[in-house]
Amino acid sequence: MRSDDLELLITSGEIEKGVRELGARLTSIYSGKRLVVIPLLKGGFMFASDLVRSMALDIQIEFLGAASYGEQTRSSGEVRLTLDTTLPLKGRDVLLVEDIVDTGLTLAYIQKLIRSREPASLRTVVLLDKRAGRQVDVEVDEVVFDIPDRFVFGYGLDSPGGFHRNLSDIVTVKE
Ligand code: IMP
Repeated sequence: MRSDDLELLITSGEIEKGVRELGARLTSIYSGKRLVVIPLLKGGFMFASDLVRSMALDIQIEFLGAASYGEQTRSSGEVRLTLDTTLPLKGRDVLLVEDIVDTGLTLAYIQKLIRSREPASLRTVVLLDKRAGRQVDVEVDEVVFDIPDRFVFGYGLDSPGGFHRNLSDIVTVKE
């Protein structure tokens, strides 16, 4: 993909500011509590790594991995668990950290799995929300940016083929 085919959607500076503000809000929401943060892999890794550094709390990190079969740019809804947690979540305050919610199918599946383990609480934060793509009602507690129904990548999110996760900005292909 040539760089002049790309359109800059959200700059690294805007991301940094949004993530820092979210980290401050979460620090006051969970004040005095110990928290288990679960980045959802693969896409949530970069957002989560910045977010936890902007939260002044006692945090443990676990990971969940999910993948969905489907066309290249939209989930089929057939979600597969690719990596599971190691700590028991029962009775714990859990924060699920995801890169993007589109149809909602991935989050619905993962939230159901986490709830079946009886955490004391579960909150979900997403960096990007593509509301126009929603197919199922899913609870999202905090959204950093609402975006249009375009395929985006960078800052942890991949382009078809699995590349571009290492870009600092979020971009899309020019229409
Ligand atoms: P959903 O299940 O349709 O809500 O989609 C969630 C998953 O699909 C995310 O975890 C991403 O991995 C992927 N995804 C959805 N939209 C995009 C996009 O625009 N770029 C890259 N990945 C996306």
